[in-house]
Amino acid sequence: MDIKQNIIAAIGKIIDIPEPELADWLEIPPTPDMGDFAFPCFKLAKSMRKAPAVIASELCVALPKISGISEAKNVGPYLNFFIDKALFSKNALSRVLSCGTSYGSSNEGNGKTICIDYSSINIAKPFSIHHLTTTVLGHSLKRIFDHLGYTTVSINHLGDWGTQFGKMLVAFRKWGDKETIENGASMRELVKLYVRFHEEAENDPGLNDQAREAFRQIELHDPESWELFEWFKEVTLKDVNKVYELLGIKFDSYAGEAFYEDKMQAVIDELEDKNLLTIDNGCSIVDLSEYDMPPCLILKSNGGTVYPTRDITAAIYRKNTYDFHKNLYVVAYQQNLHFQQFFKVLELMGYEWAKDCVHVNFGMISMADGTLSTRKGKVVYLEDVLNAAVEKTLEIIKEKSPDLENKEYVARQVGVGAVIFGVLYSGRIKDIVFSYEKALNFDGETGPYVQYTHARCCSVMRKSMGYDADNIDFSKLCDESSIALLRSIEALPDIINAAADKYEPFLIARAAVDICSKFNKFYYDNRIMDDDEATRNARLALTDATRITIKVALSLIGLEAPERM
Ligand code: ARG
Repeated sequence: MDIKQNIIAAIGKIIDIPEPELADWLEIPPTPDMGDFAFPCFKLAKSMRKAPAVIASELCVALPKISGISEAKNVGPYLNFFIDKALFSKNALSRVLSCGTSYGSSNEGNGKTICIDYSSINIAKPFSIHHLTTTVLGHSLKRIFDHLGYTTVSINHLGDWGTQFGKMLVAFRKWGDKETIENGASMRELVKLYVRFHEEAENDPGLNDQAREAFRQIELHDPESWELFEWFKEVTLKDVNKVYELLGIKFDSYAGEAFYEDKMQAVIDELEDKNLLTIDNGCSIVDLSEYDMPPCLILKSNGGTVYPTRDITAAIYRKNTYDFHKNLYVVAYQQNLHFQQFFKVLELMGYEWAKDCVHVNFGMISMADGTLSTRKGKVVYLEDVLNAAVEKTLEIIKEKSPDLENKEYVARQVGVGAVIFGVLYSGRIKDIVFSYEKALNFDGETGPYVQYTHARCCSVMRKSMGYDADNIDFSKLCDESSIALLRSIEALPDIINAAADKYEPFLIARAAVDICSKFNKFYYDNRIMDDDEATRNARLALTDATRITIKVALSLIGLEAPERM
């Protein structure tokens, strides 16, 4: 039941104005004593040639009984509506209790597939804090679309092709040791080799020629080169999987740049056939000057393919393989131009589905404590950030909840959650300054605060004898703080839809904080374990609905919901 819609429909029967317009006029009054909705009559004054207050009073008399509204009252130029609180409570609460953790889910996505390209790490390069946002944002979008019934395909488009692998090969053969790499922090060992290559190449330019030749051997699938190249991939993935495991992330596909190696020629031929390629300084490009963009590079002068060539090929492959409804790329805004260019090329190739490709871009991240300076070689590994958050959380738990069992386990859920939440609490395009203190503040607008409120609900439920869901007296949930809490709970499904439409999980993170602060007010204003049985039963039901709603919100942004903290 949508009360707002009922009001609009009733007014629409009396006044000849389209309903969507009326819906825009409807306001939420600043204080509850002025009602739950207010309809201002100013805008009607001119066409009806009457004073707004007169219109309001005439409208009030003419209105029929509106379902869900207990009273309509004209006050000056406004028509104020008061909802039937018990009915509202009943509808809002029953919906959550009957849905459980599928609250806010839908089947709008049934039969539709969404590809989500996120995290997309580079082999033999650090998995650093720079990949944090793409990783958690993409993961959250996957969960949101799953909740809405879509089939999602999570793709880690590995950066595993390019001349840098020639450098890696040379560096490894000269200075590398298999055992050190396999037994140690493998990714970091590989990165060290890469850094060393660049240092040594400054004095020995011949190394670069060797690297070019080494990459050619990879391109030619020379068995020994190819084996090493595959092994770099293997050790990197093994290492990054530790982070994915911490974050609870699994990918459906690791088809990265190398995967498209044998698929690009067909696309190059197609571009050629469609007369889209121009030769410029020996390179093959698609001229985009007509669209106010620099050309999209397809082939280097030596005939080698590039990043856009692989992305164009990958997009076509994804369409053919998954027949996506939407094809998302969760990648930093630094690559805006790249995406605009290759989406345009797809369009020029005649693919009408180019419009379904979306660059979900986001801002930069830096560390508040300054560990992320741009000084050469200074890298903040994501694994270190997560581990530090877990350790700091463990200290807090030891101090605050010395009796808690499984402290390490809970510290992991909360510490990791704090980092994720810290990233997802702002609109994605904003630059983020990450601070442990801010993220781990149990009283702030943080992951731990939301998780703690969830645990508080669980604790109330544990200590109670449960409640009778079939006999809830909804008139016991009509006080201000109960209604305010129910309103926030009731808002979540629409917020989930908005988060999906805008690719903005932060809307859900904010809704979670809102529900928690409303619950905490409800908790202080009311005695849940009231002596009156009907009151106690109703308040326990509301606490349980809160617990479920918070759990749903947390899971959609990729956080766990511990029951004790
Ligand atoms: N590996 C790239 C990077 O870290 C991101 C790849 C994004 N996905 C894509 N299809 N281009 O910068």
